[in-house]
Amino acid sequence: MHLKLTALVGVSCALLSACSDGPVERADTVREGQRVYAKECAACHGVRGEGAGPASLHLDVVPPDLAGLKQRNDGYFPREFVSRFVMGRLEKDDPSSPMPDFSAVGLRHVYPNGGADGEVLETDFANLLDYLEAIQW
Ligand code: HEC
Repeated sequence: MHLKLTALVGVSCALLSACSDGPVERADTVREGQRVYAKECAACHGVRGEGAGPASLHLDVVPPDLAGLKQRNDGYFPREFVSRFVMGRLEKDDPSSPMPDFSAVGLRHVYPNGGADGEVLETDFANLLDYLEAIQW
């Protein structure tokens, strides 16, 4: 059974000719990242990253759209900036901004009972960035 499965995967890989070089795996990370985004970011930044999500009503600062990051950055997705910003490693324009420091609070809604270790979190953040990159205009 196991052998059969392996053969099947091998054949699909040959047909798609893409198993090792990206598109298929990337689609998975984007889907995983969307799950993280939906739980941790969508309330403020909108379901599709369009900004001003439902939680904005309670905030003084309107959360900006995240789908236009690339456009606002000369057509280049600022992956490093987003990563550092989300992890609270960049100084904010407004120190009282409601944007959480995720390296401090963790992914509270993905793991409501805690329990995610460093590597899991790192993968989640990488997937989240893949998702954000995928939704740029
Ligand atoms: C409680 C609401 C809230 C949540 C939840 C939230 N943000 Fe934010 N975010 C904001 C606000 C408000 C700003 C604008 C003020 C600022 O720059 O701090 C912002 C700014 C940003 C910026 C900077 C955008 C720019 O154009 O400079 C990025 C990137 C960002 N958020 C990503 C995320 C990601 C990714 C998540 C989920 C992991 C998230 N945010 C969750 C409220 C939120």
